[in-house]
Order: sequence, then structure tokens, then C-alpha cells
Amino acid sequence: SKPLKVALLGAGVVGSQVARIILKEGGTLESRIGRRLELVGIGVRNAATQRPGIDPALITTDLEGLVSRGDLDIVIELIGGIEPALGLLRTAIANGASVVSANKALLADYLGELSRDADARGVDLYYEAAVAGAIPIIRPLRESLVGDDITAVMGIVNGTTNYILDKMVTEQVSYDSALAEAQQLGYAEADPTADVEGHDAAAKAAILAGLAFHTEVKREEVFCEGITSVTPDDIAAAELMGCTVKLLAIAKLTDDDRVIVKVHPAMVANKHPLASVSGAYNAIFVNSREAGELMFLGQGAGGAPTASAVMGDVVTVARNRHRGTAGHLGSAYTARQVAPIGESQAQF
Ligand code: HSE
Repeated sequence: SKPLKVALLGAGVVGSQVARIILKEGGTLESRIGRRLELVGIGVRNAATQRPGIDPALITTDLEGLVSRGDLDIVIELIGGIEPALGLLRTAIANGASVVSANKALLADYLGELSRDADARGVDLYYEAAVAGAIPIIRPLRESLVGDDITAVMGIVNGTTNYILDKMVTEQVSYDSALAEAQQLGYAEADPTADVEGHDAAAKAAILAGLAFHTEVKREEVFCEGITSVTPDDIAAAELMGCTVKLLAIAKLTDDDRVIVKVHPAMVANKHPLASVSGAYNAIFVNSREAGELMFLGQGAGGAPTASAVMGDVVTVARNRHRGTAGHLGSAYTARQVAPIGESQAQF
């Protein structure tokens, strides 16, 4: 049968890795999907960048033209940020393509809208790579635990800041050099302010809280404090108390069933498993009524781990496409209220 046509938007740290996997592992992917994937184009901002292993004929700077083709089965969006990503995804969905995205900033504010659009059009919207890199956490919340009642989600969801805090403790590396290393290793956002100010973690917290509590949580509803004012003295003081400083994302329900969601540095007791999460690893604890406590641990940033999560979505969406079963996963929201941001801040 005819191959499934795939367009890729973005060829940065994650995008170039995804392109290489699709181009090199065609046979393996075909055996798992039941159909061949054909990468028909890669939309980028700068066509002149060297991209080893990627056929230059695939590269285009006309992203709108690429997603408007009308014959696409899957659009993979790895450019990040709100625009042009939002417009491109709306066009892709309107044209009947299923979408895979790793764009936490976008999904934190538009997940509800894009899910409804995708459901209405009968296409898939998958975004496992948007939160915590390689760690499966979206599917567990959206699918595996959807018959249970989640009461809290808490964890480390930004690899860059965890890497920085870890290096400051274990190797007494300065904040600035640790950040430079995290950028070098491909963990940080294009603008690392999003990492160190907590915005990246807050976007992920909004997505996790929305899924866990079956509602829509926007980025601006998340209380957010980053690590820029954490000093080596704070870290030393925490150590004296048997604690490690970690940037935590926390989402839970109030007694009257509203959603509290926040990101801030916290002192974590060394005996707690989160204290020993090192480097760019992430970890997420989920508490639920029936399942009790679950912990998810793995590489939360970086090209290869994040590409693994993207490819999991691509294969899943491609299988659905092959069988004609896409859609109807995301938009069955109940309307739980989100607490005012001051209340989230106050709840420690
Ligand atoms: N900049 C992000 C992080 C990448 O450091 O966690 C993964 O979303």
C-alpha cells in the first residue's frame, strides 16, 4: 500500500534526530506500523545550516506551504514557541493531518483548543515529548490512569535546571558554567531564560495538571518561581539540613476540589527519591485513589531521549492512520476550577 506521508517542522536538537531515525530506521518502523513512512519535507527557518545525514532536497523554508499540501498523514511539530507553530498546526489539522508535537509552551495554552479541533476533524494529537523528554507520562495520565482518580502530581520536569543544581552541588561548578554545559549538551531551550526562570517547567505543570484533573489549566494560572535566585549558600544550608534543592512542579486538588499548580525551588529531604535525581534526568510522582503512588524516572531533555518519545507518538499515530482509527482522545473535559495563583503560591 501507499506510504504514509510525513512532514517535519523544525530540525534543531530534537528535529534533526527525528529526521535521522525516520530516514535510517525505515524498515523497523514499517514492520511496527504495517506501512512505510515517507518523509516528504522538513520545514526550517535557516536552509543554509549544515545537517549531516539529511538530504538537502527535503529542506524547505516554506512551512505554511508544506503543511497546506493536503496529502499529509502526519505533521511533526518541533519548532517550539507559540507562533508560527500554532497557525501551522491549525492548518495541518484543518487539512486532515494527524499531529505530533513536543511544544510545551504552545500546548500549555492551546491543548484544549487543538484537541477539540483534532477530535472534530477525526485526526490524532499526540505530545508525549512535550513533558519530561523520554519519560512516558502523558499516556499514563491520558490513558493508563484515566479510569482512576489522580490526587497529586509532583516532580522534576526541567532537565536544564536539574543539571545546573546538580552540578553546583556535586562538582561545585558555578551557575554560569553549569548553564553553559546544559546548553552545550542540548538540554536548554533556545532561550534558556525559559528554563532558569521556571517557565518551561510551568508550561509542563499546566499540561500535567490539565490531564491529571480533567480540566484546562493555562500557563498563567501556574505559580512560577525559577532557580535564578538560588545561591551556593542556599544549597550549602540545605545540605547542612540533610536536604537537596530541587526545582519542583506540583499539582494537587484542594479540599473543595479545585486545582493548585505551582513551580518553585524546594528543599527535598535526601532520603526522598527525588533528591537523588541527577543531571538532566526528570522524575514524576503520581498519587491516585486506586493505584496509590507511582514514580516515573528517566532522561528529561536532550536530542535522543526526546526523539524517542516523538517516535513513539509517530508510530502510534501512523498505526491509527493505517487502520483509520484516529481521533477522540483528548477533549472530554470536566470543568474543574483552577485556584487563583496567590492561593497556589501560599500552599506549601
Ligand atoms: N529545556 C527543557 C529541559 C527540554 O531542560 O527540560 C525538555 O523539555
